[in-house]
Amino acid sequence: MRALRTVAEVRAALREPRRAGRVIGLVPTMGAFHDGHLSLMRRARRDCDELVVSLFVNAAQFAEADDLREYPRDERRDAMLAAQLGVDHLFAPAGEEIYPPGFDTTVSVGAITQTLEGAHRGYGHFDAVTTVLTKLFNIVSPDVAYFGHKDVQQTLVIKRLVRDLNIPVRIEVCPTMREPDGLAMSSRNVRLSAAERERARALHRALAAAERAVVEGERDPEAVKAPALRELHAAGIEPEYLELVSAATLAAVPHLEGDVLAVLAARVGATRLIDNQPLSTACTNHGRC
Ligand code: PAJ
Repeated sequence: MRALRTVAEVRAALREPRRAGRVIGLVPTMGAFHDGHLSLMRRARRDCDELVVSLFVNAAQFAEADDLREYPRDERRDAMLAAQLGVDHLFAPAGEEIYPPGFDTTVSVGAITQTLEGAHRGYGHFDAVTTVLTKLFNIVSPDVAYFGHKDVQQTLVIKRLVRDLNIPVRIEVCPTMREPDGLAMSSRNVRLSAAERERARALHRALAAAERAVVEGERDPEAVKAPALRELHAAGIEPEYLELVSAATLAAVPHLEGDVLAVLAARVGATRLIDNQPLSTACTNHGRC
C-alpha cells in the first residue's frame, strides 16, 4: 500500500491505472477505523481494480471544538488495517494540502441539508462535507465512491451533490455495521464510559421498538414513536430528535407508507450518537406477511 500526502502524488499514482481502464474506487473517511469503515473497504476491494482510501479529519465539518479536539486519531493503526485489507493507496493529506491559504469556496447543497443533522449540528456541517467531497472527487476522480447507511442524510446529500453538479462518480451505500448488542459502530463510541456504553444500547432498542410497532400494523407516527421514546427514557436519554421521515426526502411523514426511516440522534453523556432504521410499511397483516 502506498501512503500519499499530496494532490500531485495522488494524480501521479492514478495516471497509469486510469489510462489502463482500471476501475477506481474511493472510500472517504476521517480515520479511527472500525468495522463500519472496513466493511466499505472490503466491498470496494471486491468491486474495484484500484482502491483509494482517504483519511482526513475535516475540521470544517465539526461544529464543536471539543468534538474535533477529542476526535480519535491513530494513523499508524489505520494504515495497518487498510494495508491488511488490500487497499492500494491511502491518501492522508495535511490540512493545508486541502485548505491552502486563501481557500475561499463552499459547495452547498439545498433543502436536504437543512433538516435533522443540518438543523442540529448547524447548517455549515453539510457544506463542509460537500466541499471536501467535491475536492476529493476532483482529486481522485473515482469511478465509484462508498458511503455508509449509518449516516443516511449524508448519503442523500452526496447523491444530490453528484447529480446536481454532474460529478461522474457512482455512489454506493453500504449497510450499517453494528456491535453484537446492536449499537451502531462509530469512531465516537470509544469516548463512552462503561456506564454510558451500557445506556447507549437503548438507541438500537428504541429503533427496534419502532420497527416492531410497524410490523404489528401501527401506521400512526406518534404511536410508532411512543415505544421508542419509552426505551430511551428508561435509559435516561432525551433524544435531540426522533423522527419518522420519507427515505427519499427526509421530510416527516404524517402517516407511515412507502419507504420510511426512523432517524435518531441523542447525546449519551457528552457523546453525540446517531442511528437510523428503515421501516417496512409494505406488510399490513400484523406481522404475518
Ligand atoms: P467517517 O465518520 O470517518 O465515516 C466514513 C464512512 O464510514 C462514512 O461513509 C460513514 O457513513 C461510514 N460509516 C461510519 N460508521 C459506519 C457503520 N457503523 N457502518 C457502516 N458504515 C459506517 O462520514 C465521514 O467520515 C465524513 O463525513 C466524510 C464523508 C469522510 C467527509 O469528511
